[in-house]
Amino acid sequence: MNVLSFGASSSSTSINKKLANYIAELITDSEKRHVDLNDYPLPLYCIDYEAKNGIPDNAKSFYENMEWADVIVISFAEHNGTYTAVFKNIFDWVSRVKLKMFENKKLILLSTAPGARGGQTVLHAAIDRFPHHGAEIAGSLAFPFFTKNFSDEFGIIDEEIKSKVDSIIQSISTQNLHSNSG
Ligand SMILES: Cc1cc2nc3c(=O)[nH]c(=O)nc-3n(C[C@H](O)[C@H](O)[C@H](O)COP(=O)(O)O)c2cc1C
Repeated sequence: MNVLSFGASSSSTSINKKLANYIAELITDSEKRHVDLNDYPLPLYCIDYEAKNGIPDNAKSFYENMEWADVIVISFAEHNGTYTAVFKNIFDWVSRVKLKMFENKKLILLSTAPGARGGQTVLHAAIDRFPHHGAEIAGSLAFPFFTKNFSDEFGIIDEEIKSKVDSIIQSISTQNLHSNSG
């Protein structure tokens, strides 16, 4: 099983990058690819640009990572109640490579923020939208108070969050077992 993970943020110190990659590492018996949106710079999406220049190589390369994956783990940073500009831009470009870019993939959708809501507004935007792009959402979680509930040394500290994460990982592993045996 191939697992792709990324934080939907361009911050070099992104808590969402940290969370997405941490959760991906919990999926055993799988090959991981942690990617950084900053490695795929793209012009701001514009239909005129596309008509003149076509789809940039970085959008195609990013899509190739998605094509490689069986499971995609994304953690969303929330900016003013929605996607970060960097994520929305790459999402728009990749949708021009393939509209149903998540077809035949299981997604774990996460969000985190320093505050109590843990980015749940952007998370719900993705949960509503991604099935239109072929996603099967295997689990989702808004992770509140990241700095309090996560430590670099111990991982997830809060027991309730830990058990929600365990059940998401368990469901992915069980489905994997079934698909391998079937
Ligand atoms: C422009 C801007 C808008 C933000 N808007 C929100 C918001 O709507 N909700 C929220 O919970 N946090 C908001 N924040 C705080 C982010 O949650 C915080 O910066 C978080 O660390 C972003 O995740 P990242 O570290 O993965 O980039 C905002 C931050 C910035 C810079």
